[in-house]
This record gives sequence, structure tokens and C-alpha cells, in this order.
Amino acid sequence: MIKIPQFVKKLKQYKAGKPISELAREQKLTKIVKLASNENPLGPSPKAVDAIQKALGGLNRYTDPLSHDLVMAIANKYNVQQNHVICGHGTDSLLAYIVNAFTTESDEILTSEGTFIGIYVSIRKYGRKLITVPLKEYTFDLDAIYNAITDKTVMIYLANPNNPTGTMFERDEFEAFMAKVPEHIMVILDEAYTTYADDNPNYPNGIRYDYDNMVVTRTLSKAYGLGGLRVGFAVGPDEVIESLYKVKLPFEPNLLAQQGAIAALDDDEFLTKTKELNKNSLAMLKEGLEKIGIKQVPTSANFILALMPTEKFAKEFTESCMNQGLILRHVDTFGIANGVRINSGTIDETKFALEVMANVYNSLCDNQKEKVEQ
Ligand SMILES: Cc1ncc(COP(=O)(O)O)c(C=O)c1O
Repeated sequence: MIKIPQFVKKLKQYKAGKPISELAREQKLTKIVKLASNENPLGPSPKAVDAIQKALGGLNRYTDPLSHDLVMAIANKYNVQQNHVICGHGTDSLLAYIVNAFTTESDEILTSEGTFIGIYVSIRKYGRKLITVPLKEYTFDLDAIYNAITDKTVMIYLANPNNPTGTMFERDEFEAFMAKVPEHIMVILDEAYTTYADDNPNYPNGIRYDYDNMVVTRTLSKAYGLGGLRVGFAVGPDEVIESLYKVKLPFEPNLLAQQGAIAALDDDEFLTKTKELNKNSLAMLKEGLEKIGIKQVPTSANFILALMPTEKFAKEFTESCMNQGLILRHVDTFGIANGVRINSGTIDETKFALEVMANVYNSLCDNQKEKVEQ
């Protein structure tokens, strides 16, 4: 009999937001809006779609294992050295490589409660020790993280803006933190939502720093509209990047992902439209949630964390919205049991979402009142 290690037995399979096709099949709905995965509601970058179509004829060949052209495009765009960049199948893949390559079983990896589920999964799947500190007002508490460092801490994960809260820590706080963290501890700074935050002058744009113990990760799955392809990249010191190349799967990201990503990175018009739509749609969402009476966390990303009275309420709210064609994300598995995350959609999608949420919220509140009165 094959022996399955305890830490693998304890893992739970990743549960993503429900796909639109599955919900349509189950509920026989004609209109479905998915605002559960922080995707770009405008679709993919049109330049990326063109490039992918042109690349299709080359599918019989393995692609460039070093993603040379994509690495060069990233190095040029962000003004970093080519040997400081590596690309992977989404940030998620790179996070797994980083955890695997730079930690061993007895090491502690420190982060916050209520952050990106992917890092928890990567830490647990390699049987590493996950140490978390609470969020402070739904934001990474960098002082608490610093104070939780022990002799066994080898890595710290920060997400800025954070998912699922949308909050960000500011430049001064980040710089003070980095100045104190011992240099043998690797800091991962996950900037999946940087596009939505970097107009803020207090946003500490990680790629502009040059710390010897920091790796910055970015993704094209969100603002660049390429979640279906999944391309992520990491920027860090050359020895770190060189080691990551040794553990990375060859030919990742695949041919279409590489070509699509190169074109998307060059699509400034698409990025400007994306930011503009996000600004307008988030403003609508914020105002609409306030009108309904749903509490929310101030955001610097492309989504809002709505706070429900209880975990049970959040679960029922998410399920009822789904039954009416609105897919949201209950973020209990991220560590926020009463949180429901909703990302900015097109203006039409946002209107629809607010209508559904108002109906569902009011009827759940009415049900609760009736129960109390009975
Ligand atoms: C903070 C954060 N990091 C990374 C990712 C994963 O991105 P990718 O699709 O590149 O793996 C996400 C996706 O939700 C995220 O929210």
C-alpha cells in the first residue's frame, strides 16, 4: 500500500470561484455575472489576442525554455536587469518554487492571517511551518510580523495590496520594516494588484527597490486580462533567480502565454482603460454597498471586501447571490469568515450585482428579524 504523508492527507483541494458554465447548467440561469476572481471585466488585452492567434501555428514546437523575449520585455519595461527576472505559470507557480527552493521542513514562514490563500497552500503542500499574525484593521501589520520573527523564520510573505482585503501598507512603513528585517530572511512581496494602487504616491512599488533579500512577484492574470493563460514573473537578486531557474519546470510559461504576455505588456491603451473602468466601477460599488447598508473595507485594488454580520450570513449571502446569477467569493478559507469579496465589473455588471446584493441582503435581514420576533 502506498503511504500518503500526513501533511498531504491534511491538505484540502483548492476550491476556486464557481465557473459560469457550471452555474448556468445547475440553475438554468440566463444571466450570470462573475465577480469572484478579481479578473479583468474588459476581457483580455486585444494585442495579446492578436499575438496568440499569430503564434498558434507554432504549437507543434516546445517553446523557449528561458522565455527570453518575455524576460527582455519585462526587464525593459521595469528597468531591471535581465538576470533578475524569471517567468512562470502565474504567481502561484512562482510562489510554490520559492517556498520549495529556499526553505526546508523545520523552517518557519511568516505571514498574516487573512491573506492570499495560494501562499498558505504552497507552505502547507511542502510541509513547511506556517506562522501567522492577525491583520490590523484588515491591513498587514508589519510591526506584528517583525515581532513574530524567531530563529526559525526564513521567509516572510507580504501582499500589497492584500487579497482579500484590498488594503495596502505605505512606503514609510514598508521601508522601516525592510530596514529591520535580518538579511538572511527572504521577503516575498506579492504585487498582484499593483496596477490599481501605483498611482498613489505612498504606494511602495516593490520593483523600484533593490534589497538583497527581497523577491517581488507580479501577475498578468488580473489587470492585463490573462487569467486564462496565467503568466507571472518574479524580480529579485540574481542568485535567487538563478536558483529558481533550477527548480522551475522547463518551457513554463507555455508558448501562447509567452507571446500573449509580451503583447499585453505593451498594451498601454488597454491598461489605461482597465484602470479607468476600475475606478468608476469601484466608486459605484462602494456607494451602492453603503446604500444597502453593507459594511466594507476601504480598497486599493480591483475588488472590495464586504463584511457580513456573521460567517453563516456570509455563506448564505454568497449562496443566494449565486442562485440569482451573481458569483461572489466567500473568503472564509482565506481566514476572514464573515467576508465576501466582490471585484469591479463593467458598469452593467456592477449595476446588476448591486441589484442582486440589495435583494439578497434585505431578504436575509428580514428573515433574521422574523426569527428574532418569533
Ligand atoms: C495576491 C495574489 N497573488 C497571486 C495571485 C495568483 O495569480 P496568478 O494567476 O498569477 O497565479 C492572486 C490571484 O488571485 C492573488 O490575489
